[in-house]
Amino acid sequence: MVYSQNYYGSIYLYVPITMRCEKMKTLIVYGTRYGATALTSQEIAKILLEENFEVKVVDAKKEKIEDISEFELVIVGGGLKMGRWTGESDDFLKNFQKDLAQKKVAIFVSSAVKSLLERQGKTEDLQKIKKSHLEDEALKYHLNPIALGLFGGVMDKNKMGFIFRRTLGVLIKQFEAAGFKETSPGLIDTRDLAEIRKWTEELAQKALQ
Ligand SMILES: Cc1cc2nc3c(=O)[nH]c(=O)nc-3n(C[C@H](O)[C@H](O)[C@H](O)COP(=O)(O)O)c2cc1C
Repeated sequence: MVYSQNYYGSIYLYVPITMRCEKMKTLIVYGTRYGATALTSQEIAKILLEENFEVKVVDAKKEKIEDISEFELVIVGGGLKMGRWTGESDDFLKNFQKDLAQKKVAIFVSSAVKSLLERQGKTEDLQKIKKSHLEDEALKYHLNPIALGLFGGVMDKNKMGFIFRRTLGVLIKQFEAAGFKETSPGLIDTRDLAEIRKWTEELAQKALQ
């Protein structure tokens, strides 16, 4: 069990974090093109609710966020396409960077390519994704996140335009060769729910410290 330390006069009281009375108000903001970041955000929210957090999930494409003052923890997620974060969640980081500097922040990205590189044992390429899309993303907006998450994503032929379906054909063959199977026709979901759970449970502990 994790304990928080409170100082009362000359006595330190060790209060189990699970005994914290108020729920930590948490905002999850995400942007998605193909749907993976929405599903991962819902999964993170479900786990945080189990951990007794109060959670609001916002799709930055559908809802404009005006004010984040009520939240203690803010989690921001984006999906990668051609080496770029989803615009809406990147804009959120940019627009709220001053407010976020005062809060507990975690950021994550969805990348189907990450899962492929893991299977192929390409650790250097994986490190490059972590650096450019998580560490540098945080640095760009002067943030010091308590957690950075690199999760799998989806390759969904049904949602790709004609050109991407053709140009990504070779890449999709690599997914198949690496043992990824379609979860429904045209869709490969490489997300690892156990990995997302572990990350979220550790994040919950860090947020409460
Ligand atoms: C056209 C296209 C481009 C992509 N580019 C990248 C990329 O540059 N890096 C990467 O890691 N994944 C890339 N992917 C895989 C995505 O990361 C994956 O589809 C992920 O689920 C995107 O997040 P979203 O579903 O929330 O939009 C690409 C996928 C597509 C269809």
